[in-house]
Amino acid sequence: MRLTILGGGGFRVPLVYRALLGDPTVTEVVLYDTDPRRLRVVGAVLDTLRAGPSGAPAPSVRLAADLDDALRGADFVFSAIRVGGTAGRVRDEQLPLAEGVLGQETVGAGGVLYGLRTLPVAVAVAERVKAVAPGAWVINFTNPAGMVTEAMSRVLGPRVIGICDSPVGLVRRAARAAGADPDAPGFGYDYIGLNHLGWLRSLTADGRDLLPGLLADPAALSGFEEGRLFGPAWLAALGSLPNEYLHYYYFRREALAAVRSAPATRGAFLDRQQSAFFAAADAAPADAYALWDRTRREREETYMAENRAATGGWARDPHDLDGGGYDRVALALMRAIARDERTVLILNVPGGGAVSCLDPAAVVEVPCEVGAFGARPLPVAPPDEHQAGLMLTLKSVERAAIEAAATGSRTAALRALALHPLVDSPAVADRLLTAAGW
Ligand code: G6P
Ligand code: MN
Repeated sequence: MRLTILGGGGFRVPLVYRALLGDPTVTEVVLYDTDPRRLRVVGAVLDTLRAGPSGAPAPSVRLAADLDDALRGADFVFSAIRVGGTAGRVRDEQLPLAEGVLGQETVGAGGVLYGLRTLPVAVAVAERVKAVAPGAWVINFTNPAGMVTEAMSRVLGPRVIGICDSPVGLVRRAARAAGADPDAPGFGYDYIGLNHLGWLRSLTADGRDLLPGLLADPAALSGFEEGRLFGPAWLAALGSLPNEYLHYYYFRREALAAVRSAPATRGAFLDRQQSAFFAAADAAPADAYALWDRTRREREETYMAENRAATGGWARDPHDLDGGGYDRVALALMRAIARDERTVLILNVPGGGAVSCLDPAAVVEVPCEVGAFGARPLPVAPPDEHQAGLMLTLKSVERAAIEAAATGSRTAALRALALHPLVDSPAVADRLLTAAGW
């Protein structure tokens, strides 16, 4: 099988390749990127991985010259692009922060600005897939993953599936904190939401729900990320465990203050870190792997540092530092489809009525049964009113951004920005649009 990775010069591509080693499903990897230097450097990191000590069979690697060439003959396509690069991410943070509202990669005004820039490119990719590789499965990593997957699904139907590592990370951290084994046969859970806006509502071991006990146990809550971010009082009031990205919504004042007082924004930190890595690795390809591994570790250790600073300045769990989240979800999904190995994964797909407050075409993030047929949302209990309220609001933000990107309508773009709960004024939204060139 051939796997094509769009954004093949992406920093996390070696994690995907590493996870493929020793697995016969994928025999050939094709990388495509608009930046030849990044592609070259990632190619050098993969060379070291291929020659590594495991001796396991490794897929061949080909660097493709253009998009159609990369897509032709692909069985699976991972779409993991960053339109505008890390410099774009810096601007998406700084423009909102200068207006006093949150600037973040996927949340708030920053996420909407990133979406407006990314959607036309993602839709163009979907159209090329439909034209030259209509039988391929597209696994979308590109953020903001909810709105991007929904826009691509209008072209590709069920052949595109969006993924994120945050929900599965939450499930695993909560399970460990509750003393359960997330890999045990009798383990189950219930999760509902949109991408970067979801809630874990039950955690069952052999039919017994462990979540109420976990939420009532401050010591257990203080031992894992979401317990520390949200705190026992708020978790008891909610009665569920929110996705880490809800920290920006529930603690908007504290999160914004922490982002504003940090020495650099996340984007600015990564822009510097990544530029230094790609320059150094390009100058010394034999050292590319060692440089990559050191840089990766630093990136994982500093993830969501502002939110952690706002809640006591704790360090991440060692389990979360291997950076294996995205590739684990993507490869589990690819294997399930390729070999019809049925399993359940939390994925971004049209809800098809599973979430009754949203129309069936709306992409939601819910547990899905996966197999050769693709991904099928499992029935979920209805969301609480406050969850439904946030989901409906954010879905209208996503859909206004999709409309704006498709038509160029500034009015739709204004609606997308100003309806976002973390943008507190249409006047601010209007100025942000102007600053972003709308
Ligand atoms: C998590 C989220 C991704 C996001 C990433 C940012 O993995 O699920 O959607 O892109 O964090 O991490 P970074 O190191 O780029 O700040
Ligand atoms: Mn994500």
